[in-house]
Amino acid sequence: MFEKAEELKKLFSERIKELNEASEAEKLRIEFLGKKGFVSGLMQELRNVPNEDKKEAGQKINEIKQYIENSLAEKMNDLKAFEEQRQIDLAESYDETMPVMTDLGSYHPITLVRREVENIFLSMGFTVEDYSEITDDYNCFEALNIPKFHPARDMQDTYYLSSNQLLKTHTSAAQNTILRKYKNSLENGNPIRAIFPGRCFRNEKIDPSHENTFFQMEGIMVDKNISISNLIYFMKTMLSEVFQKDVTVRLRPGFFPFVEPGFELDIQCLICSGEGCPSCKNSGWLELCPCGMIHPNVLSAAGINSDEYIGFAFGLGLTRLAMMKYGVKDIRLFNSGNIKSLSQFTDKSFTRPE
Ligand code: DAH
Repeated sequence: MFEKAEELKKLFSERIKELNEASEAEKLRIEFLGKKGFVSGLMQELRNVPNEDKKEAGQKINEIKQYIENSLAEKMNDLKAFEEQRQIDLAESYDETMPVMTDLGSYHPITLVRREVENIFLSMGFTVEDYSEITDDYNCFEALNIPKFHPARDMQDTYYLSSNQLLKTHTSAAQNTILRKYKNSLENGNPIRAIFPGRCFRNEKIDPSHENTFFQMEGIMVDKNISISNLIYFMKTMLSEVFQKDVTVRLRPGFFPFVEPGFELDIQCLICSGEGCPSCKNSGWLELCPCGMIHPNVLSAAGINSDEYIGFAFGLGLTRLAMMKYGVKDIRLFNSGNIKSLSQFTDKSFTRPE
C-alpha cells in the first residue's frame, strides 16, 4: 500500500510535467482525484491494511491528495502567467507597418478611359483642367451664348440648387473660366489648349442608355489660325489611340448655340467597319462627339477678341466612350457600385507621363 502510494506520487509528478494546457489540468485532476480516480482506488485498499498501520496509511493518502491538489494549483498559476506573457509578447511583436495582404482595389472604368484620353491630349500639348460640379446660370448657359429664355435651355433638364446655383449639365460650363484663365498667354503668342473632364448631371429617367449622372470631357483650342481640319486631326488622333486602330470619322451638321458652325462627329462602326450591324443600328456610323468652331460671342464673353482669335471646342461623352471601349451595354453599371463587375476593368498602362 505504501509502495503503491509512492508509485502514484511518482506517476503524478511525471504526468504534471508534461502538462502545458489548462484544459488538460482538469482531465489530470479527474484522473487522480475523481470518484473513480487513482486516489479513490488507494482509499479502497485501506480496508486491507492492518489496523495498527491504518492511521499512518490514511495520513499517507491524505498527504498524496494534498500534494496533487497543491501541484495542480501551482501548475495552473504557471500556465496562466505563461499565457499572459505570451499575449504581451504577441502585442509587442505586432508590426503596424507590415503591409496588409488583402486584394488590391481597382480603377473605375471611367477613370481608366479618362486617364487614357488625358494622356493622349497631354502628349499633344493640352493642359488638364479641373472645374467644380456646382456652377451657376451664367457659366452653364449665358456665357455660352444661351441667353435667358433661349429655347436651347430646354435641351437640358437642369438640377437647380438654391442661391442661384445649379449642378453643371455639361462640361462646356467651364469654358468661360478656362478661356479667362489663359487669355493672357494667348496675347503672348501661346495657343490655349485645354481639356476639362468632369461629372455632369441632368434630370433624366434612368434606363440602360440614360443616366442622370455621367461624365464628359470638354476640349478647347484657341489661336490665330485654327480651322476645322485642326479639330478633325485632334479627334482622329485621339480616337485612333483609344481604340488602338485607325478610325474613320465624319462630321455632320449639328446645332449648339456656343459653336458656329456646329457638328456631330461620328466614327465608323468598329465592329462592322461601316457595313452595318446591330451595334450601329445598321447605319455603319456611331455618334460620338459633338463639336464645332467656338462662337465669337463665347470668346467675347471671356474677354478674347473674336476678330483676332478663333478656336474649336468638343464635348466628348466619356461615359459613352467607356461603354464603347469596354463593350458595356448598360450605362447603369458605372454608378452601380457593384465591385464584382467594376473590378473587371484593368489596364496597367495608365500612368501619367511626368
Ligand atoms: N455641351 C454639349 C452637351 O453636353 C456638347 C457640346 C457640343 C460640347 C458642342 C461642345 C461643342 O464643346 O462644341 O450637350
